[in-house]
This record gives sequence, structure tokens and C-alpha cells, in this order.
Amino acid sequence: MKLYYYSLLLATLFFGCTTNQQLDPVEQKVEGLLSKMTIEEKIGQTALRGTSSRVKGDLPESLKEAVRKGEIGAFLNIMNTDYVDELQRIAVEESPNKIPLIFGRDVIHGFKTMFPIPLAVAATWDPKQAEITGQVSAFEGTSSGVNWTFAPMLDIARDSRWGRIAESPGEDPLLGSLMGAAYVKGFQGDDLTSKTSMIACAKHFLGYGAAIGGRDYNTAIIHDPLLYNVYIPPFKAAIAENVQTFMSSFNELNGVPASGDKKIMMDLLRGKMNFNGFVVSDWNSVTEMIPHGYAKDEKHAAELGTNAGVDMEMTSQSYEKHIKALLDEGKLSMDQLDFLVKNILRVKIRMGLFETPFRDKKHDGKLYAEDHLEKAKIASAKSIVLLKNENQVLPLTKNKKVALIGPLADAPLDQMGTWSFDGEKEHSQTPFSALKDHVIGFEKTLDYSRDKNKQSFSKAITLAKKADVILFVGGEEAILSGEAHSRAEIDLPGAQEDLILELAKLGKPIVLTIMAGRPITIGKIKDKLDGIVMAWHGGTMAGPALKEVLYAEMQPEGRLPVTWPKTSGQLPYYYNHKNTGRPAMEEKFVSMYDIPVGAWQSSLGNESHYLDAGYLPEYPFGYGLSYSTIEYSETKISSTQLKEGEELTVEVTVTNKGEYDAVETVQLYVQDVIGSITRPVRELKDYQKIQLKKGEQKKVTFKLHTDQLKFYNRDLEHVLEKGDFNIWLAPNALASKPVSFELL
Ligand code: BGC
Repeated sequence: MKLYYYSLLLATLFFGCTTNQQLDPVEQKVEGLLSKMTIEEKIGQTALRGTSSRVKGDLPESLKEAVRKGEIGAFLNIMNTDYVDELQRIAVEESPNKIPLIFGRDVIHGFKTMFPIPLAVAATWDPKQAEITGQVSAFEGTSSGVNWTFAPMLDIARDSRWGRIAESPGEDPLLGSLMGAAYVKGFQGDDLTSKTSMIACAKHFLGYGAAIGGRDYNTAIIHDPLLYNVYIPPFKAAIAENVQTFMSSFNELNGVPASGDKKIMMDLLRGKMNFNGFVVSDWNSVTEMIPHGYAKDEKHAAELGTNAGVDMEMTSQSYEKHIKALLDEGKLSMDQLDFLVKNILRVKIRMGLFETPFRDKKHDGKLYAEDHLEKAKIASAKSIVLLKNENQVLPLTKNKKVALIGPLADAPLDQMGTWSFDGEKEHSQTPFSALKDHVIGFEKTLDYSRDKNKQSFSKAITLAKKADVILFVGGEEAILSGEAHSRAEIDLPGAQEDLILELAKLGKPIVLTIMAGRPITIGKIKDKLDGIVMAWHGGTMAGPALKEVLYAEMQPEGRLPVTWPKTSGQLPYYYNHKNTGRPAMEEKFVSMYDIPVGAWQSSLGNESHYLDAGYLPEYPFGYGLSYSTIEYSETKISSTQLKEGEELTVEVTVTNKGEYDAVETVQLYVQDVIGSITRPVRELKDYQKIQLKKGEQKKVTFKLHTDQLKFYNRDLEHVLEKGDFNIWLAPNALASKPVSFELL
């Protein structure tokens, strides 16, 4: 019976409308248009043509003619408003059915005013910051005619070698879902027809973040329950927030390239997940099914893509060239083509493009407006994670003589991070520009993060000798993270470590601020540092944001959205791992340097750890310090037994015992001890950010509903399983002692 209804639903989605849908004015308009369209125009709607954003001069006649004939449905990267206006005019005045175009662009974390990279925004643990990022980005970007952004990227990332971790919400499905929904809300606003918002695109569906070895574009192998429990939730959250488009990913998942996978795009996305916008392929991802070894040629790729339900093809033109033949040969039915076209038309109608196709020429986007910069600064400051603060080296005070050193301290382009297509470095306020009145001098010493030239070390040392504190701002240039920019080793590149080791010889306190698109391994230098601050690629306002946090004008409140490894050899590494049959234990761990020579093979105890790197990360997921000392009481629960449908009250008292006000993120983790499939050692189920004045104590209370304990089992049923659970209220994924309850 269930199967019957499911098939019916799919058939409805694929082949046509129900009576109810026909009553819907949007669907009526879709049907009306479709009935007038030629095959060529239908094919045209599926085409997303790219032009280089750097193209200057006259708009090519060939493009105008193609639009006139209705052969193109959307463009990406046209960053010339005259072109945008003219192409849209041709589309709505001269093309056969006057169907407007959509204009797409990667407006990922800012248009002109750059906000922090998405991984940094996730570190705020404040979805409002993602919403604001989306709002301001859309507001500025729409002034250029862009009405569709290829964001947010919702790929869960468990491997910091992967360059695109910078663009991800991190490793946790709950945090990823909250951030994903908030970006969609920010980009799209509550009115899809507004000329100051953009439609969003949840990408990349599916499994792109699980590239084996963290090497971009690599194969992903994810078993179904893991897919449903970890990788899919952020995408579901985006749909719940009414996201209008999805992007199919480059990767193959479990043997099938996503852009040709009907099970993913139809059964899952349109069927189970109820998505009813349109799916665009990633850049050439349809024709890349040829090198994947899945399509034998372009025509076959077009057949696979269209049959899978990938509605629009980005940049490659296999649909344009081959759909007609596929129809003639019966490899694609007219109903199937209509399905793709209807999905696209529906979104164009919802965007109000048939009524108001043109951008608002009076809307100037308020590029780099004061309030945009202020919002970007706040997001950036809130994303900063204090990782180490020995001897209270931080916050800095005005009476301390600070020597500013390092390649990222004045790197206006790099601080904007990956996907800063439209941001201009001239507008970046760098740490140096923000701190120049606070420091006794500045020596960049290394020109860029990979610089190996040690010639200027002596200048840095001369400056450092005069200082009380050395503030080293290092990290990675923007180009070292992002798409195709994976690294096998994720340490500080170039001669940065050598420089820090030289400076350390002076015996002065050193604070390392890292500006990077991912966690950076610091094993060789950590002990030489009193302070470590993760400032990510913080965008246009990274400098003032850093200054305000370092001088305690704002409190450090960021928390890691991703596990910080000791060495890249530990990757992939994530807090919600499984226990294994031989979990690592402190009592039993022997470092390889403590193993007696000639030791008997099994004398070490056989646990799941690395002999060199142990079994703990450098810093766990959820970690971050404040300038104050925060103490947690034991976790209390309202009952040790719970029945389905009930709520457990969970409580902890948090006390600020230090000298500064603080913002604390109280995290609720759960472990389902025994499951029909093994369950993670901890899973984040909720959290609260609270303000704690110095000396203040607060009781923090959560309600945990049994629905939050459900998971997808081996048969992909969303189940609640009776038995024992552990629960923690903790400052990070490794801290605190659990209490237990039983689900009856
Ligand atoms: C990326 C997408 C992006 C697209 C368009 C691709 O290379 O994977 O995320 O939206 O290019 O620029």
C-alpha cells in the first residue's frame, strides 16, 4: 500500500499535476506557458549559460540572438548591468513566449561587503549571523541584476584537508541545518518577488563534502543511514525554509555521479523530501559524467542528466545539443522534458519575473554602507574563537607594548577568503589598519603565507625585542582553501613556523592569530605560544573585529564548528564518531616514544588510536574559551525515565568566576548507548548562547523531547529506540560528565 502511494507521488511529480495543483494559479500559468512552447524553447529553458564576469565590450550578437529565439533560460556571471538589462529586455519583449531570464552568481558570503567565510559564520553558533550575511549579500548583489545565488553550501565536512570546508557549515548536522535555514531566509527574504532578495540554491546534492581523503571532487562513499542522519538534514532544513533551487554535485556517491542519479534527484529529493523548485547541475557536472566513466558521450550524459531530473544544465551544453535527438529516439519522453521545464518556470513565476522582470535601477545596493560594514564586523568578531590563553596574555591592554608581525596582518585580499568574487580588497580593513595606533610597530616579515624567504627575520626580531607581547597574525592566503584547493598537510605554510620559533627564543609572550579557511595544525609551535586565536578569513572588516576582541571591547564567543586535529593524519576526524569495539582509553594509551625496544606485539593493549598522534584532537568540536573562567555544575535531569512523546528537563548552573563578562555556549549532547545500528559517542541536540556578567551565575534549562532522539535505522525508518541514554550539558564535545536516563 505504502509503495503504491509513493509510486503515485513520484508519477505525479514526474508526469504531471494533480487536480489540486491545477487549481493553483502558479501551476495554471506553468501549464499555460508550456502548452505554447516549442521543443526548442523548452530545451532553452534548461540551459544555463556562463559568460566570463570579466567580459567587456559589446554584448555578442550570438547571445542576443539565442535569447531572442528562446534558446537560453538563465545566465551566470554576467556582471555588466547593461548586458543584464538588454538580455532581459530581449527575453521579455522579443522571445517567442516572453519568458524572463534568471541571472545567477556565487554570492556566497558577501557581494561587495564581505562577511566571514561560512565556516567562520558557523563558528558564531548564531544563525542570525548567517541570516544577516544572506540579507546584506542579497541586498548588495541584486543591485547588479543578480537574482539567484549559488548558496548556501550545505555539505557536511569532516575533513579539514578539503578546501571547501571553508564554505561549509562544519561537521555537525544540527548546526549545519540551523545555519543552512538561516542563510536561505537571509538570501530569499520573505518575498520571492522582492528586488532586493535572491533565490537561494542548496548545494551540492549529495555527499560532496565526503570526498575521500579530503581531495576535492573525489569519490564519496556514504552508507544510507549515515547519509540520512548526517548529510541530508541541512538540505531538509533548507527545503523547510522554502529554498527554490538545488545544485547537483560533481562527485559520484556510492558509485553513481550525483548529476545522473535518479534515485537521489527524483526518489529522494522530489519524492521523500518534497522539493518542488528546480535542480541545476554544477559547472559541467553533466558532461563530467564522461570522465567519471558513467556516460559514454555527451548525448548519453544528457540522457542521464535529464532522466535523473536535473532540470537545468550549468555551462556544458549537452542538453541544448542532444535533447531533441533523445526525444526522437525515445530516450527521453516529452513528459519528462516538460517536468524539467515546469520546475524552472514555476520558480520564475514565484519570483514575479513575468510581472517585473527587470532589476530595480534605483536600487544601488548601498555597497559598503556603514551598516553593512558594521554587521560584517559584528559577524566577524562573533566568529573569533579563543583557543589558548595562558598566563592571561589576553586581552591586550593599552599599556602593553605590542609588536605586530606576520604575513596575514595586512593582507586585504586574503582576509576576504574564498569566493570573494566581487569584494574589493581596497575596502578591506586589515588587522594592521585597525591596530596601528595600538602597536609599537609592524613587520610583515613574510610577504605572503607561503613565503619561505627568511631575509627579514632579523627586522621582526629587532621589533619584537622592544615589545611586551608579540602578536603574530599568520595563517593561509585565501587561495589555499576553497574549491579545488585541498591540502594534504594543513600546517602553517612557508616559513611561518620557523619565524615563530625564532621569535620564541626571545622569551616574550606570543599570541598567534590564525586567519585561514580551515583549522591549521600547530603541533610544532603550540607550546611556544601563550595565546592562540582563530580569526578565520573574516571578510572586509576582519581587522576591526580582531582588534575589538583582542582588546576585550567585544568578548570572544566563537566555538569550533569542526574538530581541530593535531595532525592531518588524524583526518577525517569528527566528534560524533562511533565507539568501535576497542575504544581508546587514556590508561592504556602508550605513545610510540614510550614503547620499550623489542616490546611484545600485543603488550601495548590493542585500542583504536594512533601511536604517534594519540586519540584526541588538538581542540574538540564546540570548543572555545572566554577571557573569564566559566564553571559548569553537574548536569541535572528531571527524571531518569522517559516515555515516548515526553520531555526531559535538563539543567545546569553556569558561573562566571573570572574578571570579564562572557558569552557562553551551553551544549546539549546525547548518546544512545545501544542501538539497532551503532550510534555516535555524542550528538549535539541543542544549545543555548548565554550572556554572563562577571561574577554572574545562571541556571540554564533545556527541554529534550523524545523526537530529538529519533534516528534513521538500517531500513531508513525514522525510529525511536528504547533503552539507555547518556546526556551532557557541556562547553564542548569532550567535556563534562554524563548523566543517564532510560527511554521506556
Ligand atoms: C562550484 C559551485 C559553483 C559553480 C558556479 C562550481 O565550480 O562547485 O559551487 O556554484 O561553480 O560558479
